[in-house]
Amino acid sequence: MSKHLHLNAFLMSVGHHEAAWRLPESDPHAHTDINYYVRLAQTAERGKLDSIFFADSPVLMGDPGRRPSGKLEPTVILTAVAVQTSRIGLIATASTSYNDPFNLARRFASVDWASNGRAGWNIVTTAGADAARNFGLDDTPDHRLRYEKAAEFVDVATKLWDSWDDDAVLADKELGIHTDASKVRKILHHGEHFRVDGPLNLPRSPQGYPLLVQAGSSEDGKEFAARYAEAVFTAQQTLDDAKAFYTDLKARTVAAGRDPQSIKILPGIVPIIGDTEEQARELDEELARLISPEYARKQLAERFKLPVDELDLDSELPEDLPTEDDIEGAKSRFTLIVNLARRERLTLRELIARLGGGRGHRTFAGTAVQVADAIEDWFRQGAADGFNIMPAVLPSGLERFVDEVVPILQERGLFRTEYTETTLRGHYGLARPANQFDDADALVAAR
Ligand SMILES: Cc1cc2nc3c(=O)[nH]c(=O)nc-3n(C[C@H](O)[C@H](O)[C@H](O)COP(=O)(O)O)c2cc1C
Repeated sequence: MSKHLHLNAFLMSVGHHEAAWRLPESDPHAHTDINYYVRLAQTAERGKLDSIFFADSPVLMGDPGRRPSGKLEPTVILTAVAVQTSRIGLIATASTSYNDPFNLARRFASVDWASNGRAGWNIVTTAGADAARNFGLDDTPDHRLRYEKAAEFVDVATKLWDSWDDDAVLADKELGIHTDASKVRKILHHGEHFRVDGPLNLPRSPQGYPLLVQAGSSEDGKEFAARYAEAVFTAQQTLDDAKAFYTDLKARTVAAGRDPQSIKILPGIVPIIGDTEEQARELDEELARLISPEYARKQLAERFKLPVDELDLDSELPEDLPTEDDIEGAKSRFTLIVNLARRERLTLRELIARLGGGRGHRTFAGTAVQVADAIEDWFRQGAADGFNIMPAVLPSGLERFVDEVVPILQERGLFRTEYTETTLRGHYGLARPANQFDDADALVAAR
């Protein structure tokens, strides 16, 4: 176990809690204000956090009545943030089901250049028929197929990023040669899902390529992570589940021929911080009171594939629910939610309150010391390499985390007091990837 933990700030509109926008302190228009995101990133950088992260999906998620749901495209946000910050890592989601590898590889290489080596890509396959219907499909492609396509997508993207040698650009004014063309190669990828000649129209970027992040916890998701991911976001409700996930994914990573240290596992935590435990609980309860349960009831009915009127707000979940095998969308989240409701015998109304903060991520209401204790406990017990910090309310939740929790973690020697590296991979203690064509070059040169 490394001595220091890693902290990523997962930023979502005015907070992860679905009712955060209704608090008196919240600006319900902030989610479309680029300067708002710049300020959040600067706050995270003040706390020396490893990175910030924006989730995304190419669809209007849920009912727009429920919460601020329109989103700026995250690599656009990251580009603006890149020029107003200098150290913090910048991670954005992009879908492998609804993008083309060439355009996406170019976009992330551009963010890596714009930020001097701070870009990260959260690779998702995108669940949900609504998104599929924005791209000429009737329904979500099959789960396994989505992950197969994602694997080929990442193979193509890494080949494109490696299509330029690191020393290809000479910029030799005397000789009149800008780039050594022999160090820029076509990739000629002709696969099952993609045909891409390459090369990329950008030199290899400061990190070689962006940090590869993954966030699916199903069987297919874990296998994919073990092969490709350098950081993994995951939702885990209990210490036991988090430890089992951590141990399993590290073992799969070893089985895939990789060093277990080369993958960093970050479960989510939604901290609700108060001066006293009671004050934190009051904020949690106030947020729960502001939830309009009908939106969540409809969403859960869709998730469980049931008519809405079969879900009664004041009863426990029906006995007869589908199993993970029947789900083509987000498999692991389905199981997590059903297990949470059954384990704690929650009524639907209580379940909705529990999901309101982090949609299945662990919420934790307490003082700054209690939040630091919760983080330290999971870290020391081998359940995490770090955490995805998901403030329930923004910007106040991030400010309190940075100003109150981070100093405690620093005093305990668990978190950096200054940045020692300049790239996102550097912050996570990961090496810059070698160019996969280096060996091929050596072979050609030896002939
Ligand atoms: C912290 C976190 C962030 C996620 N962000 C996104 C996202 O931005 N877009 C998306 O489509 N899915 C996102 N997901 C969902 C996962 O990519 C995945 O679809 C889900 O966890 C279910 O994966 P599975 O079917 O492999 O279990 C996120 C999941 C987690 C845990």
